[in-house]
Amino acid sequence: MAIERIAVVGAGQMGSGIAQVAAQAGLSVVLADASPELARKAVEKLGATLGKLVEKGKIAAGDRDALLGRIKPAASLDDCGGADLAIEAIVENEGVKKDLFRKLDALLPPHAILASNTSSISITAIAAATKRPGQFIGMHFMNPPPVMQLIEIIRGLQTADATYDTVVALAKKLGKTTVTSKDSPGFIVNRILIPLLNEACFALQEGLASPEDIDTGVKLGLNHPMGPLTLADFIGLDTCLYIAEVLHRELGDDKYRPAPLLRQYVAAGWYGRKAGRGFYRYDA
Ligand code: CAA
Ligand code: NAD
Repeated sequence: MAIERIAVVGAGQMGSGIAQVAAQAGLSVVLADASPELARKAVEKLGATLGKLVEKGKIAAGDRDALLGRIKPAASLDDCGGADLAIEAIVENEGVKKDLFRKLDALLPPHAILASNTSSISITAIAAATKRPGQFIGMHFMNPPPVMQLIEIIRGLQTADATYDTVVALAKKLGKTTVTSKDSPGFIVNRILIPLLNEACFALQEGLASPEDIDTGVKLGLNHPMGPLTLADFIGLDTCLYIAEVLHRELGDDKYRPAPLLRQYVAAGWYGRKAGRGFYRYDA
């Protein structure tokens, strides 16, 4: 099946980046959020980001306009009704995701595929909330989606071969490389990344070194593009905590227990870059 129209639900950092990637590949995109105002603002912000790329000579002004013309902010979830594929990128919470997919299942045409960008939650479990588990799959983009090369594909227990093939072909059309993971907490990337970030939180909590030295140590010592605390701020400390909780709960091993300092920062609303404060402070 050819995917031409997609709905992206959740207009945060991942949803707006996914919308950009899809529109860049010529797909028409509806971008929805619980708050229609946030969807509208996300498209506005995308316009500003693309404006900078035009200034740098990376894309032509005409291409920017055509790309933006393919992304429509949704006034309500109903605007997603005509999509061939819905990609969900809302908060990392199983109950909230299931509620949304029940609605999308009722709204989208019978041929449509439902995909979750979840970082850690069971695809099999979310799919079971819908009447089309065969047409349900994990499509895990990396942050920031326009820049990162990888999409992790996760097959749920009931994901059909046709769904998998369609989504892998789409990822290729988007210019991405795929890896396929079993449906296990955190899949491949976050099973390995989140313990690293969590360990950096423990190290900071224990006073091993300053945030800057922890980050510089890993950045220069291991040749990572960002230090772990900077990366955690970039992902969102709320999202890091929710993923760590899924790993801990579902894998049942205390080695995954979230660092108390991470819990404390999230409790304070210090969600990282998107909130203006995390391990570091960020200008508006
Ligand atoms: N569209 C297209 N291109 C864009 C863009 C956009 N929206 N935003 C930035 N770019 C381009 C820039 O133009 C720039 O291109 P050139 O190098 O050709 O000039 C390039 O991307 C890099 O951008 P910047 O110069 O602004 O920034 P940088 O060099 O500091 O790199 C970074 C930023 C790519 C984020 C880099 O720091 C990095 O790779 N960090 C690690 C990111 C990472 O690990 N992501 C995965 C997180 S884990 C995850 O996502 C899974 C999960 O579930 C939590
Ligand atoms: P974010 O906080 O930037 O954005 C989430 C958006 O979802 C917000 O705009 C919020 O208003 C909206 N939302 C929340 N509940 C909703 C609902 N019921 N219906 C519609 N919209 C709703 O989060 P994010 O960083 O973009 O992460 C989104 C998802 O992508 C999560 O599942 C996360 O685990 C996953 N993910 C995140 C990253 C990352 O680095 N941040 C990377 C890969 C995957």
